[in-house]
Amino acid sequence: MIDYFKYAVAEDGICTLTIDQPNSATNVMNQAFLDGFRAALDRALADDRVKGIILTSAKSSFVAGADLKAMEATLYGNPDAKTLYEQCWAFSSLLRRMETGGKPVVAALNGPALGGGFEIALACHHRIAADVRGMVVGLPEVGVGLLPGAGGTQRYLRMIGVAKALPLLLQGSQLKPDKALELGLLNEVVPADQLLPAARKWLLGSPDPVKPWDKKGFQVPGGGNPMLPNLAQLFMGTAANLQANTYHNLPAPLAIASCLYEGMQLPIDKALQVECKYFVKLNLDPVAGNMVRTIFINKSEADKLVRRPAGIDRKVHQRIGVLGAGLMGAGVAYVAAQNGIDVVLIDRDQASADKGKAYSESRLRKDMARGRITADKVEAILARIHPTADYAALGDVSLVVEAVFEDRGVKAEVFAKAEAVVPVDAVLASNTSALPITGLAETTGRPANVVGLHFFSPVERMPLVEVIRGRQTGDTALAHALDFVAQLKKTPILVNDSRGFFTSRFIGAFINEGVTMVKEGINPALIENAARMTGYPVGALTISDEIGLDLAYKGAQQQAQDLGADNRPGASVEVIATMVATHGRHGRKNGKGFYEYAADGGKRLWPGLDDLWPRRPASEQPDVREVQHRMLYAQLADAARCIADGVLTDPADGDIGGCFGVGFPIYLGGPFAAMDTIGIGAVVAECDRLAARYDAGRFAIPALLREMAAEGKTFYGRNRVVPPARRTEPVA
Ligand code: NAI
Repeated sequence: MIDYFKYAVAEDGICTLTIDQPNSATNVMNQAFLDGFRAALDRALADDRVKGIILTSAKSSFVAGADLKAMEATLYGNPDAKTLYEQCWAFSSLLRRMETGGKPVVAALNGPALGGGFEIALACHHRIAADVRGMVVGLPEVGVGLLPGAGGTQRYLRMIGVAKALPLLLQGSQLKPDKALELGLLNEVVPADQLLPAARKWLLGSPDPVKPWDKKGFQVPGGGNPMLPNLAQLFMGTAANLQANTYHNLPAPLAIASCLYEGMQLPIDKALQVECKYFVKLNLDPVAGNMVRTIFINKSEADKLVRRPAGIDRKVHQRIGVLGAGLMGAGVAYVAAQNGIDVVLIDRDQASADKGKAYSESRLRKDMARGRITADKVEAILARIHPTADYAALGDVSLVVEAVFEDRGVKAEVFAKAEAVVPVDAVLASNTSALPITGLAETTGRPANVVGLHFFSPVERMPLVEVIRGRQTGDTALAHALDFVAQLKKTPILVNDSRGFFTSRFIGAFINEGVTMVKEGINPALIENAARMTGYPVGALTISDEIGLDLAYKGAQQQAQDLGADNRPGASVEVIATMVATHGRHGRKNGKGFYEYAADGGKRLWPGLDDLWPRRPASEQPDVREVQHRMLYAQLADAARCIADGVLTDPADGDIGGCFGVGFPIYLGGPFAAMDTIGIGAVVAECDRLAARYDAGRFAIPALLREMAAEGKTFYGRNRVVPPARRTEPVA
């Protein structure tokens, strides 16, 4: 057995259990961890010399929580519920044994303790945290569709009461030490070098090793009867809020609320079993499996640059250029400078370049006013941004990102100017939203250096960067572009060149379907609400207004010009053209789009839509499910085409891109996870039905998906299909 737990008993009778998983930067909770923990605890409880136990870790964090990677195998209902229950209970009951073992245990948290790691600490009799940078505690399980299954919900409840526990658990809050101290979830916060002495001191003070809830007459703080008016109201409000915010697409929040509701009425041992059962229930639900895979496993791999070409030295970018200091360029410059990279920020004239830098300045000053950053750091970041109109300043950059107007001519012009100055191996990256990279590369003398780096707005908040490989993009440029994304601490997905790459065309399929329904006289409110009910953060009409109808109009015109006779405009193009060209409705930016916007920030659907596209009578409006299916399956079909055509070479890129870039419902885990969950055969059948009823193109299913259905293949798991990895032909 590999021993994760170092056991040392001092003369004063204090046993220090140090968790130190071999060959790992963190302690993760897996079977070996559990076995080691049980053995160490048994030994300490049986050891007559031991008066008290300090539980600490040899890593920079305390315990990182469950090994979600190993856990993937136990999601999707495999193994069966009984085995899962036994596994969960083995851990929960072990913590309970520690809690009731008769010897005081203190958690000496030397670093972050999240999820299962914090559940261990909660089961201890005292919690002391070291005041170190990045220290955080909490139970964030809800974020991956799960709940804390080892007593977390029940101990929060009994320590701080339901009114405080519920929001923390529903939001998966990660707490800084001062906040946790204030809440009573931590008992002490001490300087790092005082951690073990403080733990020892507490143990030597003859503490009571019996928890309040193991004493007669214990009352849950704030009351433990859900029929009390304030608690009844709290649960009612919670259920209503969950419905309003999640449409109950996410089972975890409801399960957490149920754990508290039921748990407060039960003795702790029974309550822990109830929690364990809800944990198993979530484990069996594909929502948790899909969320864990996309949000945690696939994203972590993308962050580690799993798609980076092998054998190329890692590039640490010290100085880069950003061409175009508008909305996107200013954002890229800000994030790069924040991450220690010097940025030459170029625009047409000095004033425009300065304006781009001013964006960083105003953001940083705001953060400083809120006490989030010190004046020194602000100055250091700002000193890294060098605004200028002079391309000569690009002499020693290793990468440039262009973010000038979405116009081929302007992009070619700035690339040419940069190319004349930058080193021969510098990466030339474009932040274009949709112009094919291959075409842009051909305007330069170094097509192998050209790559797409598609950031999302606002750059500082959006975690995703879509990295686009043009037909001639070389492995070195691609690797160095990915290195840059990693330096910015963003998540890259890798996509082959195609019109709209992946994310733009994928969200386009959703928007196109929604707008097309307006044209068909379907109630716009129904279209918007159906999207929210499916789990999209906003409806297709809202997002169109946010992006700008004028931009969509310009994009459609550009596409018509590029493709000539081959252009097959989406059904929504006519609607957008009417809105923009005839009625001057550009979206939120001019207060007029599918919605009209009041000065006070309010908005309502524009009544004029009914005049332009007469609304069908109520009796002829479709069922909400049909509206939901049209938007969802239009995207699923498009994602399937992307993989069949080689735009995507791995479903993980599509799932991460969909969820982190363009608001695909997170509980579905992305389009490919969703197709696996629905069943490939069922997806094919539904798309065929929709194709026959509405449009053969939008719901067209590639042969690959039919083959998969016939052969019982899936995008993930044991019957995983190997997607064709070919590159697309240049499209323009
Ligand atoms: P913007 O209009 O805010 O900024 C463009 C900047 O480029 C302006 O400051 C302009 O003065 C400058 N510029 C124009 N011609 C120039 C030249 N010849 N030399 C130097 N600077 C020049 O546009 P935005 O929104 O920042 O978009 C930039 C690019 O990013 C576009 O290709 C756009 O499609 C793409 N993009 C935009 C997103 C968005 O949400 N706005 C999202 C993702 C990509």
